[in-house]
Amino acid sequence: ESECNILALCEFSILDGILLQKKLCRSWDKIWDFQAKPDDLIIASYPKSGFGFVDFNNEEDAKATKEAMEDGEIDGNKVTLDWAKPKGEGGFGGRGLDQANKMPSPRTLKTHLPVQLVPPSIWKENAKIIYVARNAKDCLVSYYHFSKMFRMVPDPGTWEEYIETFKAGKVPWGSWYDHVKGWWDAKDKHRILYLFYEDMKEDSKREIQKILKFLGKQIPEDMLNKIFYHTSFNIMKQNPMANYTSLPANLMDHSISPFMRKGMPGDWKNHFTVAQNEEFDKDYKKKMAGSTLTFRTEI
Ligand code: A3P
Repeated sequence: ESECNILALCEFSILDGILLQKKLCRSWDKIWDFQAKPDDLIIASYPKSGFGFVDFNNEEDAKATKEAMEDGEIDGNKVTLDWAKPKGEGGFGGRGLDQANKMPSPRTLKTHLPVQLVPPSIWKENAKIIYVARNAKDCLVSYYHFSKMFRMVPDPGTWEEYIETFKAGKVPWGSWYDHVKGWWDAKDKHRILYLFYEDMKEDSKREIQKILKFLGKQIPEDMLNKIFYHTSFNIMKQNPMANYTSLPANLMDHSISPFMRKGMPGDWKNHFTVAQNEEFDKDYKKKMAGSTLTFRTEI
């Protein structure tokens, strides 16, 4: 992929008030018209909320996708509907949408879209959705470091600047506050399992079992243990499928910050000053007023 193409994918523009890759905004109709199937599983989250944490593929999925992967058409479990990537990234380029359309069923697809931008057929077909949310402060910290190390998202500026940018929702995929609240409200109307990063960190076996129940799957104890093992932070950190170290350094620079960085609720305390924290909390209260959604900022 030429440098020029990579640069084109790094450009963002605003669609319905949400910052998204320009390439996707230009062909938004195609995403909006995406044809979901009833047996699709959608994993949704705001960025940096532990997407990868729930993104384990069971053996059936692995078998179904293997052939297409061998053809080089899709990139395993890393198909994100609303993301276009250059060829170097994970080996396969192009829009996630095009890859999704080629994937054999049952498909597991990922998205960071806020609820109002989700393609309507996903609701119509009643596809199952797992949403993962993470507390705002840790999410902000993670997004800040990620934006420094990943060239394909806008530069975060200084820490002080970034706090304001995040609060204003001027980051890719928009406002954290609107995102988590929007999906929280949607869960009462659709088949959505709403999970919290902090819960997964606290007791990932319990959360994996919630996922299995939601999916109507039963697995033997030893497989549950295997999933538990492979989704632990230290093991995922070493797994090239999860840690993104296979990406070229000009896209992701792990020397600035590793993708699997800290993986700990409460790391925000190492970043916010007392004054910044107070200011943040004040603004948070206003933005989250009226919602029944609550988060733990440490465990
Ligand atoms: P930190 O930057 O705080 O370490 P996403 O996958 O949505 O991009 O989110 C990435 C964040 O989730 C990173 O947060 C990463 O370390 C954390 N994460 C991913 N897998 C994890 C796991 N198995 N256990 C704990 N944290 C995990």
